[in-house]
Amino acid sequence: MAGKITFTMIKPDAVKAGHTGAILAHINKAGFRIVAMKKTQLTKAAAQAFYSVHKKRPFYGELVEFMTSGPIVAAVLEKDNAVEDYRKVIGATNPKEAAKGTIRKKYAKSIGENAVHGADSDRNAKREAAFHFSSIEMF
Ligand code: RTP
Ligand code: MG
Repeated sequence: MAGKITFTMIKPDAVKAGHTGAILAHINKAGFRIVAMKKTQLTKAAAQAFYSVHKKRPFYGELVEFMTSGPIVAAVLEKDNAVEDYRKVIGATNPKEAAKGTIRKKYAKSIGENAVHGADSDRNAKREAAFHFSSIEMF
């Protein structure tokens, strides 16, 4: 059965551009409840660990540099079928290919600087939520 929890980050490009409020409103309107949330800035070590699945990919260095370039907003979200539904809400990795009305279509600049992160499986959602929040920070 699909889980009720997913994990998201509003990435440095979207925070810098002042889109945090609009993106959170978009998330709420799409039916997600915010379980945990914080504004923070990833250290290089934290970004490397968070994205360790992409270690061998050619864009890994660039990704780590970008994700540490400014503050992010990290959040745990709740809804039935959370992971799959949230991937639909954010749209394709490349904003040029993202469907109309998705967060990336509206707010992302490029495939690298693409406004938001969304967990890609229930297992990763749990891992990523635990990476950023302790159990007493989730409500
Ligand atoms: P995310 O993990 O951030 O939700 O994005 P995603 O699943 O749609 O894409 P993924 O393949 O997991 O890639 C993670 C992030 O790496 C950057 N990227 N850059 N320059 C490139 O070709 C490239 N490809 C990926 C993006 O920031 C992407 O969201
Ligand atoms: Mg991904």
